[in-house]
Amino acid sequence: MDDMTSALRVAVVGAGPSGFYTADALLKARSDVSVDIFDRLPAPFGLVRYGVAPDHQKIKSVTAMYARTASDPRVRFWGNVEIGRDVTVAELQRHYHAVVFAYGAPDDRRLGIPGEDLVGSLPATDFVAWYNGHPDYAEVEPPLDGENAVVIGVGNVAVDVARILAKTADELARSDIADHALDALRASQVRDVVIAGRRGPAEAKFTTKELREFGELDGADVYVDPRDLVLHPASERFLAEQQTAQRNVEVMRGFAARPARGMPRRVAFRFLYSPRSIESDPSGERVAAITMERNELIERQDGSLASVGTGELERWPAQLVLRSVGYHGSPMPGAPFDEQRGVIPNERGRVLARHAGAPLPGLYTAGWIKRGPNGVIGTNKADAMETVATLLTDDLPSPNDPRPEAIEHLLHRRGVDSIDFEQWRRIDRLELTLGKEQGRPRVKLVSRSDLLSAAGDALYDPDEDPGITVPIPTQDDD
Ligand SMILES: Cc1cc2nc3c(=O)[nH]c(=O)nc-3n(C[C@H](O)[C@H](O)[C@H](O)COP(=O)(O)OP(=O)(O)OC[C@H]3O[C@@H](n4cnc5c(N)ncnc54)[C@H](O)[C@@H]3O)c2cc1C
Ligand SMILES: NC(=O)c1ccc[n+]([C@@H]2O[C@H](COP(=O)([O-])OP(=O)(O)OC[C@H]3O[C@@H](n4cnc5c(N)ncnc54)[C@H](OP(=O)(O)O)[C@@H]3O)[C@@H](O)[C@H]2O)c1
Repeated sequence: MDDMTSALRVAVVGAGPSGFYTADALLKARSDVSVDIFDRLPAPFGLVRYGVAPDHQKIKSVTAMYARTASDPRVRFWGNVEIGRDVTVAELQRHYHAVVFAYGAPDDRRLGIPGEDLVGSLPATDFVAWYNGHPDYAEVEPPLDGENAVVIGVGNVAVDVARILAKTADELARSDIADHALDALRASQVRDVVIAGRRGPAEAKFTTKELREFGELDGADVYVDPRDLVLHPASERFLAEQQTAQRNVEVMRGFAARPARGMPRRVAFRFLYSPRSIESDPSGERVAAITMERNELIERQDGSLASVGTGELERWPAQLVLRSVGYHGSPMPGAPFDEQRGVIPNERGRVLARHAGAPLPGLYTAGWIKRGPNGVIGTNKADAMETVATLLTDDLPSPNDPRPEAIEHLLHRRGVDSIDFEQWRRIDRLELTLGKEQGRPRVKLVSRSDLLSAAGDALYDPDEDPGITVPIPTQDDD
């Protein structure tokens, strides 16, 4: 169809699950829609490519569905275009009836304890992005020359990072882990990985399938202290209602009863401990230990359980501390932001002005930046559908310049090397071919320059046309 006739032009910021589900819902609802999906990275799919663990390939097949969405003639993908830097939100509003922020929540939540910034203490967000070959995290270099690693938090990300530390190089080599991470993990000296939860085993947030994997590792034994499995009465009540928690505790009971197999590595789950400070070695720069406070559980009025410190401190050796206590959103220039929750304030996806709470016409949000960093890939589908339903009921402002080619011209004049979905397919094919040669699912290209050159020579080269540059206006210019 001719894009010029599109009655509804939507810009989606972020090509992760929520961006693709937003596009899909729009396509299904309206034949006269055109959707442009922007991503700051040359590669699409957000955390499916750069978050989901490299040894969990099956779940990544969801990208085939996103590729189908991208193949619809009403959709265009603009990779390597960062909204808020290369193009402002105000500029998008000049060309689209609606802008949907679906840019995820890539930052880490901090613990706020002394020693958090020592070398060897890093957020799981960085470690995950490093082993998954995110272009901005290739230089992270987590120190893996010590024997003791402590992972703080008992969510699915915590168990992902602990499993990656515990796996053998042969196990990892069957995945699409980034080559630089495979090399570093091959040389890893880590022997003991402790995963610490501040509440009890029944309150752990990880899912049972992910927990079970610790019982199937080629080179690591798993430990759970049977004393940790004596549950608070409120936890027992919770278990009776909550199947995942019930199964988790069953699996942990199985682990606690299991004889050790004498493996070179050990993974231990510890519960009712909170980190209080991270201690340095004599150089004052590197992590040597972490001080943990023993907790007990108290029941809140609503029946949930909170942890409170008992004052009893323990010092655990650690040369690597991975803080896996959740992700956090970051603001987008030109869009309101709720600092405390790390989300864009919204009502069913309709963006609200920071203070007044009035809707901002034409601005919407979906996914982690809408509701916070929780939920699996599928959760974003219903979330995006809610946003699209909201968008379709609203009166949308008319863009000044709705020509489909306007954005291309702007990017071109600004010298931004955007890549389209066909160019992404070239990268994809190359990675799959390299993977096939090595008996791996894929070999990821990491740096932006490698990704862009694999995308093909059709790219615009700003050096060939240095004469025309379009400065990025401030938001006030509009
Ligand atoms: C480590 C980890 C592992 C996970 N594993 C699983 C799993 O195994 N199974 C499962 O079901 N769920 C898993 N999840 C959850 C799942 O990944 C999320 O629910 C989902 O990715 C959130 O989708 P999103 O689109 O909101 O955000 P994201 O996936 O983060 O996508 C956001 C996209 O926006 C882009 N972007 C950011 N800023 C800009 C900008 N300024 N301009 C343009 N683009 C921008 C980013 O590059 C990114 O591509 C995992 C999450 C994490 C953190
Ligand atoms: N395989 C998969 O399906 C998969 C893989 C990875 C991620 N995901 C999803 O992605 C989302 C994010 O995962 P996540 O693991 O980052 O977050 P999460 O599930 O919210 O877990 C965060 C963990 O950090 C703990 N925590 C928070 N603040 C703490 C503090 N100050 N001190 C000690 N512990 C603290 C929490 O404990 P409390 O419970 O006590 O607050 C919890 O155990 C989740 O929905 C997850 O299911 C899914």
